Amino acid sequence: MRAGDGLPVVRPLGSESVVAVATPVGSDGFVPFAQVDMRTSIRPTVAEVDLAVIKRNFDRLSALVAPSAVWAVIKADAYGHGAVSVARALSDRCGALAVSLVEEGLELRSAGVTVPIVVLGAFYDHCHAQVIEEGLTPVIYDPIDLELFARAAADRARQVEVHIKVDTGMSRLGVDPTTFPALLDYAATLPGVRVAGLCTHFATADGPTADETEAALQRFRACVNLAVKRGLGPLTNHAANSAAAVRLADTRMDAVRPGLALYGAMPSPVVAVAELEPALRLSTRVMAVRDISAGVTVSYGARWQARRPSRIGTLPIGYADGYPRHVESAEVLVRGHRAPVVGAVCMDMMMVDLTDVPHVSVGDTVTLIGRDGLQRIGVDDLARWAGTINYEILCGISKRVPRIYKDRHE
Ligand SMILES: Cc1ncc(COP(=O)(O)O)c(C=O)c1O
Repeated sequence: MRAGDGLPVVRPLGSESVVAVATPVGSDGFVPFAQVDMRTSIRPTVAEVDLAVIKRNFDRLSALVAPSAVWAVIKADAYGHGAVSVARALSDRCGALAVSLVEEGLELRSAGVTVPIVVLGAFYDHCHAQVIEEGLTPVIYDPIDLELFARAAADRARQVEVHIKVDTGMSRLGVDPTTFPALLDYAATLPGVRVAGLCTHFATADGPTADETEAALQRFRACVNLAVKRGLGPLTNHAANSAAAVRLADTRMDAVRPGLALYGAMPSPVVAVAELEPALRLSTRVMAVRDISAGVTVSYGARWQARRPSRIGTLPIGYADGYPRHVESAEVLVRGHRAPVVGAVCMDMMMVDLTDVPHVSVGDTVTLIGRDGLQRIGVDDLARWAGTINYEILCGISKRVPRIYKDRHE
């Protein structure tokens, strides 16, 4: 098939996969992003990501936490939104980006993202030299990593800037505050490293009370004060995730590290910013419709049985796409109406009860996350139906769902 035949041209699946029509085409045979038409995909299951919304959310968070900087957390493929696209969208307004894995940082660098990238996950294996070469900023807590970074930097006649992570109560990563002074002593003996920042992560910033976070902050501040007393500096200190950044002004320090809020979701009901908007919409189209009699069962295990003559729609999306298999009372939106999910969610398909949706037909748009007319299904709704958290729903939308990017230029 040649571009220009008027037939669909499809890029391979992946986080940056884009389905495009063959006309009109650029020199590479594909239409530019701005002209992508989701209706021409082979399977109409898509996640639309609005980069203009993510930029607006970033600006609103920046205004809220100013003068602290906002470092966008784009680990886990930007919580399912596509790390490279989100990084490119935020590059000119974001002083630094944060990822969890070295691999995630390398993906961004190979895509041409040049802003500072902080590696929060602190797992370096044998990649210290590569982290330095690629200009990633390592978060560390282990003296062995300090030494390996110092050695790799010295080999290159360079000095690497590192951020030291302090464990203030999460008990996951970080140096204990009691051994923090010894780690600083050790860093001072290594000319290849400069401690450029201190950081911590809060375990309960989205909880009902702020007491534990305030206590963790005090532990962190004691470490910061000690480092300052020892003459370290300038230091860039950062602690706040979305919940802390939004709720607890004291935690904002030099930079905040929001992930979820950037994408327009909130970590818990006690955290709220009125103007943040969801940036992702998950939709598909009805691929088959069948009328069944009362008593007929639907899907694996025959666990759902029609109580009345019913119209059942089959959707080309399943748990391999990240729609949760275990949902209770879940709904989708069709023609502005809510339609219940019925029977077990399959790997590639799921069924919905369309009996009460007037004039439904094959090809109708189905919204699984997003708005349709006056109705809306939020990622929080789907998380509740699945007995999980909104983070897991967003990160779980799988690579085989094409991400379609919108921006204000469209
Ligand atoms: C170290 C660290 N900082 C910041 C974040 C961002 O958290 P949130 O998405 O709740 O804003 C995370 C996410 O888990 C994290 O692990």
